[in-house]
Amino acid sequence: MSSVHKRVLLADLGNPDASLRPYETVKHVLRQVSPADVVRCIADSGLRGRGGAGFPAGIKWRAVAQELSDIKYIVANGAEGEPGTYKDRYLMKHLPHLVIAGMIIAARAVGARKGYIYIHHEAEDCMAAIRAALDEARRLGYLGEDILGSGFSLDLDVHMAGVGYVAGEETAVLQFIEGKPAMPRAKPPYPTTKGLWEKPTLVNNVETLANVEPILRNGAAWYRSIGTADTPGTILMSLNGVRNPGVYEVEAGTPLREVIYGIGGGPAGEGIKAILPGGYASAFLGTDDLDVPLEYGALRERGSSLGCATIHLFDKNACMVEVASKVMQFAAAETCGQCFPCRKGTREFLKLSLDLERGKAGEDWEQQLEGVFSLTGRKTLCGLDKAASAVMRSAYRLFADEFAQHLRFTCESCYSEAVHP
Ligand SMILES: Cc1cc2nc3c(=O)[nH]c(=O)nc-3n(C[C@H](O)[C@H](O)[C@H](O)COP(=O)(O)O)c2cc1C
Repeated sequence: MSSVHKRVLLADLGNPDASLRPYETVKHVLRQVSPADVVRCIADSGLRGRGGAGFPAGIKWRAVAQELSDIKYIVANGAEGEPGTYKDRYLMKHLPHLVIAGMIIAARAVGARKGYIYIHHEAEDCMAAIRAALDEARRLGYLGEDILGSGFSLDLDVHMAGVGYVAGEETAVLQFIEGKPAMPRAKPPYPTTKGLWEKPTLVNNVETLANVEPILRNGAAWYRSIGTADTPGTILMSLNGVRNPGVYEVEAGTPLREVIYGIGGGPAGEGIKAILPGGYASAFLGTDDLDVPLEYGALRERGSSLGCATIHLFDKNACMVEVASKVMQFAAAETCGQCFPCRKGTREFLKLSLDLERGKAGEDWEQQLEGVFSLTGRKTLCGLDKAASAVMRSAYRLFADEFAQHLRFTCESCYSEAVHP
């Protein structure tokens, strides 16, 4: 099986002589491409945000660019609080100038003159790499006042992210940078109109911004020639549970099977029972889904999502009740507690899955589960509860036999876990 390694973002990885090359594009853009044309190029490229939702970058950029405000901000979201996700850290550590160049081009396109790179609180190596790269960029005149005599000025700083998964949600990011607790706030207004200190703010994922320089260098049509119509370009995947775990860049549309076997070397364990293709905020797929192309649309059609492209594999011998309860443990620990459906729903999912694991499920267990599904169907600030619900629902649907069996008696794996946790 051939593996589809495509290098757009990682083309210059390991080549120190090329580390400053992205600034050649910055120079060209500042001198010869108008802000409106930059926005048009990003819109035409079909670039979709890599922070989880796959939102079209061009639409967001246009919204910020159209706001009439003297002060605007740009934020690169590198919070990465999702377990098993390390692709943004990889980019920031190994290709910091690619991220910074993307931010300079984006900031000028939307009219932002101040920006922050929001980095996971434990990623000291990334903070050091980005700080050193910012110093270098300032020294070379790519940041600061009147960059390269273009009249455009930009100042970028590192901001350590708040602790926890929810701290990566965009409004929580803004709250934290403003000095408040890293908890989501209501939308609308969206950050594009009222972001940092109520000013229009462009919030993009680190990987999204890393795509900007290659797109401006090679053009929108080139970018669209890679990947699929639904998801142009490549995807940086964090591969877990395979023989060769790590970060890989693949062309969008590559079948899941090829990623797992061709690139990851196959499952680390004895075989595959289930896959979470987009991290803990996606939904389980089974082995029947191994030929699904990795793109936003195809995964959504199967009731799952690409999310931040974090693949988790679950072993052929795994107990899916136990697996579901581990994910619910994560959700219940990470809810910020502001919204009742999420505060209550994540706890109830955890309680119900633990009851099942421990052989303590009551007669009305299934009825109770349906009740929590309907509770978590309501609107909440960030939708963490809906993500938990999608995981629980997909486990319950795909592995109905295992769940039904646990309603009668606990399995060997759960039993030994309970006796020797
Ligand atoms: C609970 C939660 C956690 C999130 N964590 C991150 C994160 O760590 N990094 C990120 O880029 N986006 C994260 N997002 C998505 C952001 O809210 C936002 O959509 C994204 O940063 C926008 O960038 P994009 O359009 O380039 O994808 C999270 C969303 C939710 C609901």
